[in-house]
Amino acid sequence: MTAVDWTALVGRATQVREHAYAPYSGYRVGAALLAADGRVFVGCNVENASYGATSCAERGAVAAMVAAGVRAAVAVAVVTQGPEAAAPCGICRQVLAELAPGLEVGMAIAGEPAPRRVVSLAELLPEAFTGKMVTG
Ligand code: THU
Repeated sequence: MTAVDWTALVGRATQVREHAYAPYSGYRVGAALLAADGRVFVGCNVENASYGATSCAERGAVAAMVAAGVRAAVAVAVVTQGPEAAAPCGICRQVLAELAPGLEVGMAIAGEPAPRRVVSLAELLPEAFTGKMVTG
């Protein structure tokens, strides 16, 4: 597999972050998911007056990928405000693990072209719950 073009992926996540709907937290997030076939799918957070109905950027990108008929991703760039680069929340880690267990996660701050850090999803979510536990 060719190396991930993190600058391009962060660029896509930065772009889609502009569409984030975050009137409650003011914390805008953009995610760009690189599929195994080279295509990129994006998502942003979509908040709701009923706070628990909020959808994270990462899950939006996963939904877009699956809706396009693609079920394998290799990398995701997540762009947030500073000063710290943010790792995906626990629910998003679990959702990413379902379709992209070998995923590399790049965490970037808006206005910067490269991720502050890149870690594997396995590092972020060791011992993920999988369908193997269900089917035996
Ligand atoms: N958020 C994401 O979009 N992704 C994450 O992984 C963490 C949190 C969003 C949800 C909410 O709209 C805002 O960030 C603050 O929690």
